[in-house]
Amino acid sequence: MSAALADGILREIERFPMVRTMIDATRLSFLLVGAVLAAGVPLAAGQPKPQVNENHFRDELAPLLKTHCAKCHGTEKAAGDARLDDLTADVGKDLDRWLAVRDQLRDGLMPPPKEPRVEDVKLRAAVAWITAMAGTRAAKLPNQGNLIPHELLFGKPAKAGEAPAGRVWRLSPEAYMGFARDLGRGKINGLVQPFTLIPERGIRDFAGLYTIDEPSTEILLRNAEAIVEVQTGHEVKDGKVNGKNDSVRDFVSLMDPAVEPTRKQLESVVQTQFRMAIGRPATDDEVTRLLGLYAKCEKAGDRPAAVKTMLQAVLLRTDALFRSELGRGKADGNGRRMLAPEELAQAVSLALGDRRESALLNAAAKGELTTREQVAAHVRRILDDPKADKSRILGFFRDYFEYGKTTNVFKEKPKEFVHSPQQYVADTDRLVLHILATDKDVLRELLTTPNSFVNYSLVKNKQKGGIEEPKPAVVLNPINNKGQKGPEHVYGVEAWPNPQPAPLPKDTRLGILMQPSWLVAWSTNFENDSVRRGRWVRERLLGGTVPDLPIGVVAQVPDDPHRTFRDRLTVTRDAKCWKCHQRMDELGLPFENFDHYGRFRTTETVLDPDATAKNIDKKGKLLGPVTREGELKTTGRVADSGDPKLDGEVRDPRELVLKLAASERVRQVFIRHAFRYYLGRNENLSDARTLQDADRVYVESGGSFKALVVSLLTSDSFLYRSALVSAPKPATGEPK
Ligand code: HEC
Ligand code: HEC
Repeated sequence: MSAALADGILREIERFPMVRTMIDATRLSFLLVGAVLAAGVPLAAGQPKPQVNENHFRDELAPLLKTHCAKCHGTEKAAGDARLDDLTADVGKDLDRWLAVRDQLRDGLMPPPKEPRVEDVKLRAAVAWITAMAGTRAAKLPNQGNLIPHELLFGKPAKAGEAPAGRVWRLSPEAYMGFARDLGRGKINGLVQPFTLIPERGIRDFAGLYTIDEPSTEILLRNAEAIVEVQTGHEVKDGKVNGKNDSVRDFVSLMDPAVEPTRKQLESVVQTQFRMAIGRPATDDEVTRLLGLYAKCEKAGDRPAAVKTMLQAVLLRTDALFRSELGRGKADGNGRRMLAPEELAQAVSLALGDRRESALLNAAAKGELTTREQVAAHVRRILDDPKADKSRILGFFRDYFEYGKTTNVFKEKPKEFVHSPQQYVADTDRLVLHILATDKDVLRELLTTPNSFVNYSLVKNKQKGGIEEPKPAVVLNPINNKGQKGPEHVYGVEAWPNPQPAPLPKDTRLGILMQPSWLVAWSTNFENDSVRRGRWVRERLLGGTVPDLPIGVVAQVPDDPHRTFRDRLTVTRDAKCWKCHQRMDELGLPFENFDHYGRFRTTETVLDPDATAKNIDKKGKLLGPVTREGELKTTGRVADSGDPKLDGEVRDPRELVLKLAASERVRQVFIRHAFRYYLGRNENLSDARTLQDADRVYVESGGSFKALVVSLLTSDSFLYRSALVSAPKPATGEPK
């Protein structure tokens, strides 16, 4: 595939020797996408074929729906907003609706009591079919992973599943920047981020979601120019070409227009650029093509420009911009192939950090990385190396908890204390890293630690030889009132604690969900966002689902300043709202124990209408609103969690998280999310064994996140692909 793309780009460039101005970005993006398609690789993560009888729908289920459901769920009448007459055997297409049907049948809720019963055998067959179909057609979008029922993945010991299809995965925005930085070494002027992720909640860098479109292609071309400009940076002094600090010496030596490069020199710069950009040497064929390109461009008379064009062409190859995970390695006799060493070097590097890691590349070059043990050894080495790039480890926790969103929530600057979203995020980052450093019982610690960093920073002490010492972070205070209380006030401590992490006041906060960062991230400008907090708990800890808010529903709590938020949220108790909101609200309401700045409270400040009316001056003019402290309830309820031990009332947010943190199901749901992050896709039924192994390893290691990562990155799901789809064909033809 990569060869095909390089071909395509080269053909384009060859046709237009004045390359960069002449390449039409549309055509190039067509080629990028075309080359991927030509390799027969589905752009979306491959799903194994379902091994379920598709005729079951035609022969059994469609007639059942017609007999028992159609009269209330058709075009004329769609009871409960559910039309069922247009469902097809393509369960994946209507996953939400199919699962609703499944749940209604399984729980005996539909058809309604007065209607004829569905025969027991048929009912059980229907439930089994829908469940199996849903499992094999895992939804592809972020936040749809939970649509695969938990019991199907963890219910009984799993055998090795079918290997997933080969895929390519566009570099993440961060990995692209890492790539550019590695090439340019120093600062690259004018570098622009060409890639974005979809605006969704949670883990979004999924392999199946991204291609390279026309606007990105234009940026990529300009970036390639900017990078090569730095690589070949030089000054001419007294007729001599001198390289600048960050330039590549080989490249600079060809920047003298008077020098005619030898073939050997050209080959050598191509090889250097290949190693830097692709992480492997170029093949003879690749070298020949690039030299051919040089020859064409050179005819225009500008040798240095021709060299630059050739160097840019390497940076635009698909194998520079996409991670290849086709499974080009050894076949193992079970109809699957391992990722090749080069594929693994990149996959492992980019699973853990944002750059290709040199020791992995060297290992691949030596033909290592062909066994699970070798991969495991490298993963462990990187995880244990304090200097290695492991930015994606913290990245997982940021995507999972989403406390980083704090900085996007605009709030009025309070007068009495400093509200510093950036600092809350920095404190929570530090807490996560602190817990990871100990690497024991990680999830439980994250959810329940009574300790916190509080407005913390490390500052180098020059007098003491540059050792780092903890200091209160200097937080920008736009109001700058004297006597204003710093961010530590939000955590509930008056004096800045040292050492940190320090325990917070007793019986106030436990863990990440009670850090100011998380609470503010899940709040709005003026209020707590109990609904989305509850949704977070439902999805990320309980592994449940909530259908999206339907368009057209007025989703607003009444703006009655004299009522508590909990009281106003009772609008959702209406049956048409509650069918969704019962899955969220009661899980989010315990966090009413904090205000929307994240401060602990035991009462809620509301308007006092009577006192306000009486608050008048001598002439009877209103002097302004008067508030009173309303009663604050912090109770909540876990229901339909899938773990009977979890269901029931909770007194407050602390009881809620302690309960959740002790649950096996919650732990397994955490493992499912780690899987999605490191594998770049939702889990399938065929990944059950990988998930169960990861869970077992996590438990046996005493809750080590490192052990969990090693398990995932050496799992069958990570290492293997079903035997190669088809040999890569060159991209053919012209864009239409
Ligand atoms: C006599 C009419 C009637 C029949 C027959 C009937 N339903 Fe319903 N159904 C309703 C009504 C009314 C609602 C909305 C109230 C509710 O959710 O209980 C509903 C709701 C639903 C919902 C939406 C539930 C939700 O929470 O969103 C589904 C799914 C459903 N039915 C499936 C079925 C299936 C499957 C059958 C056949 C096996 C069936 N129904 C037969 C009347 C009917
Ligand atoms: C099909 C499911 C569903 C139904 C029905 C539904 N909601 Fe929601 N509602 C949601 C989801 C999901 C969210 C969270 C949205 C998000 O995460 O962005 C939400 C959010 C809300 C919020 C918080 C919105 C905000 O921006 O702060 C309110 C208030 C709300 N819903 C009220 C209602 C009311 C009132 C009804 C009934 C008239 C209703 N909802 C019906 C699913 C539903």
